[in-house]
Amino acid sequence: MRVGDTPYRTLWVAADGRAVEIIDQTRLPFEFVVETLETLEDAARAIRTMQVRGAPLIGVTAAYGLCLALGQDASDAALTRARDLLFETRPTAVNLRFALDVMVETLRDVPPADRLPLAYARAAALADEDVALCRAIGEHGVSLLEAVHARGGDPVNVLTHCNAGWLATIDWGTALAPIYVAHERGIPVHVWVDETRPRNQGASLTAWELGEHGVPHTVIADNAGGHLMQRGRVDLCITGTDRTTATGDVCNKIGTYLKALAARDNGVPFWVALPYSTIDWSVEDGREIPIEERGPDELSRVTGRTDDGRIEGVSILPPASAVANPAFDVTPARLVTGLVTERGLCDASREGLAGLYPEGPGAVPSASA
Ligand code: MRU
Repeated sequence: MRVGDTPYRTLWVAADGRAVEIIDQTRLPFEFVVETLETLEDAARAIRTMQVRGAPLIGVTAAYGLCLALGQDASDAALTRARDLLFETRPTAVNLRFALDVMVETLRDVPPADRLPLAYARAAALADEDVALCRAIGEHGVSLLEAVHARGGDPVNVLTHCNAGWLATIDWGTALAPIYVAHERGIPVHVWVDETRPRNQGASLTAWELGEHGVPHTVIADNAGGHLMQRGRVDLCITGTDRTTATGDVCNKIGTYLKALAARDNGVPFWVALPYSTIDWSVEDGREIPIEERGPDELSRVTGRTDDGRIEGVSILPPASAVANPAFDVTPARLVTGLVTERGLCDASREGLAGLYPEGPGAVPSASA
């Protein structure tokens, strides 16, 4: 998508054909900084510190992290060590495991001397596939916005939580893909952007990328969504997901569940957008999904730009107060109106998912993606 007039992806291979360049998301919205990842450790740190984030982007970054590792040492032991290091970076988004499994499967039976070019080719294919999947999610999901518009919704008001836009993927995004496609087709759309405490992915990232792309939006406090729904100012909600169970429960950024409850109480459709790589077929019940606990600083400190242009962090809590920081929650399938995937829309249920993905865990992108 566009940053100014320039189209970008979130990650690409550097001119030397070896290093990997990323947009450092910890610097947005104040500074647009491209950082070069040279080593496995750089890639692991970028994921852990959330310079890159969002389930699909985490997966592709990990795939390139393996490439960087193999550039140093392509032995079996190094492959296993790199896989394990990357797998430990973040626990909730299942795309991380998905991408590492794909890479290890591709490389395992290949002689070490031949691994490196194959690794880069497979990682590039994962990145390109992610773009195609997200674009297909947009093509399917836009029908939801078109339907509201046809009923007289002008603009179509969509509420989203966290950042599930192009910054969370390689391009297009998941939840925001239908919005970008609607914008492209001239459907008037306006996005209510939850600020998404504690890390403010909505305020810092979703608002930034929508703004760069020219999509009308308004940032709201996380607590405002229910009120706006009561007043009829939200036509539909669309969020992303970091892991979706085989039965349609969705695990997403903390606070998603509360939005789904408010949506249900107000008769507002609550849709969740995802590619097949976010489905964990091995989990039946969302309560089994590991929920990442992040450090207290995300709550106790906020970073912003001062009036004279400096970027500064400040404390906002009494120093002695305890802090708990679960980073994700689970929205049970019964609160989800439906899922938007690269293969189309379906119920958030075992039957719905099985209808779209009859091959289950063996799912691969369909021709349309
Ligand atoms: O902790 P993050 O920022 O990596 O979490 C990402 C999310 O939860 C997003 O909301 C998103 O919906 C899932 S990734 C497309």
